[in-house]
Amino acid sequence: MIYLDNAATSWPKPPEVKEAMVRFMEEIGANPGRSGHLLSIEAARIIYETREILSTLFNVKDSSRIVFTLNATESINLALKGLIRPGDHIITSSMEHNSVMRPLRDLEKKGVELSVVPCSPKGELDSRDIEKKIQSRTRMIVLNHASNVTGTLLPLREVGRIAGEHGLLFLVDAAQTAGVYPIDMENDGIDLLAFTGHKSLYGPQGTGGLVIGERVNEKEMIPLKHGGTGSRSEFEEQPDFLPDRFESGTPNAVGIAGLLAGVRFVLKQGVEPIRRHESCLIEKLIEGFKEIPQITLYGPEEMKDRIATLSFNIENLSPSEVASLLEEEFGILCRPGLHCAPSAHRTIGTFPKGTVRFSLSAFTSDGEVKQSIEAVRHLLHQKD
Ligand code: ALA
Repeated sequence: MIYLDNAATSWPKPPEVKEAMVRFMEEIGANPGRSGHLLSIEAARIIYETREILSTLFNVKDSSRIVFTLNATESINLALKGLIRPGDHIITSSMEHNSVMRPLRDLEKKGVELSVVPCSPKGELDSRDIEKKIQSRTRMIVLNHASNVTGTLLPLREVGRIAGEHGLLFLVDAAQTAGVYPIDMENDGIDLLAFTGHKSLYGPQGTGGLVIGERVNEKEMIPLKHGGTGSRSEFEEQPDFLPDRFESGTPNAVGIAGLLAGVRFVLKQGVEPIRRHESCLIEKLIEGFKEIPQITLYGPEEMKDRIATLSFNIENLSPSEVASLLEEEFGILCRPGLHCAPSAHRTIGTFPKGTVRFSLSAFTSDGEVKQSIEAVRHLLHQKD
């Protein structure tokens, strides 16, 4: 089997992720920050260490500004619904996933104005087009770091600078890049960073977080949920300090233990070496596919402009037919269709049928890429 669906969730995970989770279940298991006994303190220590290691990864000075959530979608919802009010104006791009588009469309119904800046057919964004949309009521710019459809990287630092110059908040959806592309809250000018734990950070599903930058006043940010935090238990009001303000209820401590091991794996390998490995393989995949005339490729060709997620189509075959044949005949697992990103597919001209998507990870091998190119060739010969 060849697993090429890492943009949906990375697999396999490093063995140490499973080991950390088993250790948590067998030896710790307690509720962190609640009971004050030995095991509860150990669970809290694991969660603290995970916040600290994520602070190193994203260059965050105060790790309490990292709030754990279930996934990037929850983090984006928390940032948008927590900070945006009727009458505010938001700018985003046409390459966004529904995790950004759906909460934004919901806010639009509640009196928020939205500008969607069109990207090029390769999914590229010109940051000047963002600047042109800024008006007196603009409060926030929201962008994905890299498209889950084409792998196109958006110009984070340029937009971060524009947001800073105009006093706007900058929310970044790093679902596809956290762990595989360097992200620096300060140098990239990011105010809110939504990340997931189960993709390039190699943690389990059900882990993720929101980094709340220093320019955001958390006291003005409305939590998505209210409840017990193990702190200030004498009060019926939600605590106003971080991270407790946004972390009610028992957390996914076993998942966070796995995430800690995943981030340790990433830092041990190095973000840059992982990116180089994936770039080298996706380059080979693109080169191989370019020699097959029946294939249409989407997104940028230059490695500096993309991550290792590639969309393509094969003449006279629907994306779901291609994916089924690849799975049945060659054991290749990938994701066809719209990838929960209809706006991105409209931008690249593949709506409504979508594309076939291959997405790689640190564990993808050169041999798997070669076999995948050969599989597509065989598939075309069979159809002839
Ligand atoms: N957003 C994930 C994907 O692109 C699930 O497949």
